[in-house]
Amino acid sequence: MKKNVLRSISAMLMISVCTAMIGCSDDDEKKEETPTLYTRLGGIDAISTVVDDFLTNVVADTEINDKFEATVADSYRTQLLRANLIDQICAGAGGPCSYKGKSMKEAHAGMGISTVEFNALVGDLVKALDKNSVPTAEKNELLAVLGPMKADIVED
Ligand code: HEM
Repeated sequence: MKKNVLRSISAMLMISVCTAMIGCSDDDEKKEETPTLYTRLGGIDAISTVVDDFLTNVVADTEINDKFEATVADSYRTQLLRANLIDQICAGAGGPCSYKGKSMKEAHAGMGISTVEFNALVGDLVKALDKNSVPTAEKNELLAVLGPMKADIVED
């Protein structure tokens, strides 16, 4: 009789432990299922559209477009900048791309870029993200990826 009671208790304990463990693994699965920023931005096509709108804004932005004159005059350079920006955003957002361009320090060395110009460019990106209805959370996450690059780009 005592043995049976002990068996029942240990069976109940095992069920509780299993339930708790299943509960835990459910939580882990939910965490793993959170899509990457890349996915939430809409993948490579959506990122490419944002970059195209961003470059259109930059070229029209009288605060900074003088810095891009030589780039705009050379279609190969323009296409390379576009491809590098797409890869950089895709990779930074956890997507399946690798950035093959120069480091931010190397790419902007000697350009004399000021904080005002940096902010103007970020404003052009925000405009492009808004045009494509990127939600606030994703917009802020992307800006948080790019923001720390300021130290390597700005020279004032
Ligand atoms: C978070 C801010 C910025 C990011 C993520 C960024 C990103 C890049 C990337 C990926 C490249 C290409 C590097 C390569 O050729 O290997 C580049 C080049 C360049 N960036 Fe930026 N940049 C930023 C800010 C700025 C600002 C504020 C300016 C000027 C106002 C600027 C002007 C340029 C120019 C002129 C080039 C050279 C384009 C060419 O090769 O013709 N960038 N940038």
